[in-house]
Amino acid sequence: MKNSMTDEIIALKNKHKAIILAHNYQVPEVQDLGDFCGDSLELAIKAAETSAEVIVFCGVDFMAETAKLLSPDKKVLLPVRGATCPMSEMITPPELLDFKKDYPGAAVVSYANTTADVKAESDICCTSANAVRIVNSLSEEEIIFTPDRNLARHVALQTSKKIIPWNGFCPIHEAITASDLKEAKKRYPGALVMVHPECRPEVQDLGDFVVSTGQMFGVVEKSDSKGFIVGTESGIIYSLSKRFPTKEFFPIKESVVCPNMKKVRPENVLDSLRTLSPEINIPEEVSRKASRALRRMLEVG
Ligand code: 13P
Ligand code: SF4
Repeated sequence: MKNSMTDEIIALKNKHKAIILAHNYQVPEVQDLGDFCGDSLELAIKAAETSAEVIVFCGVDFMAETAKLLSPDKKVLLPVRGATCPMSEMITPPELLDFKKDYPGAAVVSYANTTADVKAESDICCTSANAVRIVNSLSEEEIIFTPDRNLARHVALQTSKKIIPWNGFCPIHEAITASDLKEAKKRYPGALVMVHPECRPEVQDLGDFVVSTGQMFGVVEKSDSKGFIVGTESGIIYSLSKRFPTKEFFPIKESVVCPNMKKVRPENVLDSLRTLSPEINIPEEVSRKASRALRRMLEVG
């Protein structure tokens, strides 16, 4: 990246009292621009706590919406319009309301990977880092879990509650198969396997750790192992390698790339800071209800 671009980004950031938050799946040049890089829970916490006046969110739309819901008085910018998460489009409020009718006593736990409208119809949100904790914190015994069926199954294995999953999934993680992972294990014998809970059940079952992107850092930190097979979007390999330069990280396969997460480039960050757009705005009634579900999540932690 040209230094003049970085210099201008830094100058505009200072001028507007802005902070750049970047998800672990962003391209390396954007991760390097971030004041903070992390998983969706860590980024939500940063967005809620920051004293910055502008948040430039390098990720996909539901993450920027989460930042806006938690910091409604701040300007939240998503540098590329249309960076969306297909999983978050697999459930709509009318579908959820209809589904709820069959389970009148159930609580609704919605993954952060949902639209603000769906969060507004949910009792509480979760991310892949705290989903088990969130479910176990509830008094209800029946839990409608939306939209990720694979994360729902990961939770179901670790709770006594009845989990009623929505049938959504992440197309990127779903494309990792058990045979891909078996091949990778043969290629990198002795490496520890970390997989994301958005992976298929049979892939999760072959992993040594089923963890969020942020939790992968904790696993590596505590482990003596030198090599790690990583079952999630490829961007995390850069963040892990940067933080642990003496360790080796191997993707299960090279093609695990989320095109939406790769849309943001440094040029877009610069444009966004120059024009203070595209801005995230959420209708007041939706915002009131959705932020309640998110704040309830943050109270549990
Ligand atoms: P993390 O919560 O592990 O960051 O994963 C969220 C996600 O699905 C981003 O696509
Ligand atoms: Fe959505 Fe999957 Fe991309 Fe995450 S990796 S943003 S869940 S499509």
